[in-house]
Amino acid sequence: MKKRVLVLHYSQTGQLTNVLENMIAPLKSAKNIEVVMTKIESTENFSFPWSFFKFFDAFPETVYLDGPRNKSLDIANIDFDLIIIGYQPWFLSPSMPMSSFMKSDEAKIILKDKPVITVIGCRNMWIEAQKTMKELIEKCDSRLIDNVVLTDQSGPLESFVTTPRWMLTGKKDAFYGLSPAGINAQDIKKSSRFGERILEKLNANAEKKDEPMLTNLGAVKADDRFVFSEKIAKRSFRIWGKLIRLFGKRGAIARRPIVVIYVAFLFTLIITVVPINMMVQTLLRRVFKEKNDKILIEIEKPSGR
Ligand SMILES: Cc1cc2nc3c(=O)[nH]c(=O)nc-3n(C[C@H](O)[C@H](O)[C@H](O)COP(=O)(O)O)c2cc1C
Repeated sequence: MKKRVLVLHYSQTGQLTNVLENMIAPLKSAKNIEVVMTKIESTENFSFPWSFFKFFDAFPETVYLDGPRNKSLDIANIDFDLIIIGYQPWFLSPSMPMSSFMKSDEAKIILKDKPVITVIGCRNMWIEAQKTMKELIEKCDSRLIDNVVLTDQSGPLESFVTTPRWMLTGKKDAFYGLSPAGINAQDIKKSSRFGERILEKLNANAEKKDEPMLTNLGAVKADDRFVFSEKIAKRSFRIWGKLIRLFGKRGAIARRPIVVIYVAFLFTLIITVVPINMMVQTLLRRVFKEKNDKILIEIEKPSGR
């Protein structure tokens, strides 16, 4: 009997769709595997590129996992052997269409008791989002067996310019000596190695065990410079998010002044606290290497490097 793999995802620019297509190509060409690729569609059109206000006004509801409903997927009656979920962090949380799906009754039916592999395609800050995703997966009574993370080719500081430029103008080319935005094409191409391993594991019925399939493939590498920064930033998103939500619903004109104040605060943080924190983290990493390595190993579970 054929094994069924569900590949469920959301992608605005198509980048994550591209990652997943490369990844599952080996599964698609296997005769004993049926791959169902399904795109999550929100009832709201998150148009791309974003306008300045729509982008920043989206953060409170993203962080509070309070996005609009999605359209029905019509796959709740299909039994899958393995589920691959592709998502992107928005403001250190799963994107709104993804968190809306994970909170839906439909997700609770589709994911129940199933092994799940998460695939993240993002700028470089995914640790807090994956923490939330793990909780959402647990609430669906499913088992996270692997996590694959592909990050942008720009360095951590230059991506503070290149990613927002891409999101707000649609332009991702190299400019003024900065690298292009988005994930490197070679990294995307090389993600077929994950599909090859999944195929091998499915053929050995490994999905029935509670073990990772993608170990020793470089599936994930946590950057210790972001562990602390993400924690602080997520806390600040929650505080500011709560405050902004007092001024009305997403899109409300009354929210605009406070959103502008928040952006000014965020920008100040990015040019002052972030570089200092990155330097301090680099220093602390050397001093507390052993403790630090343990934290990273925990974050990188279940797949590991
Ligand atoms: C509203 C918004 C917020 C984002 N926040 C983050 C973030 O917190 N961390 C990160 O690494 N990337 C972030 N990104 C970049 C996305 O994770 C992703 O790389 C980009 O949106 C392209 O994904 P897609 O076209 O496949 O949807 C954000 C993008 C958007 C649109």
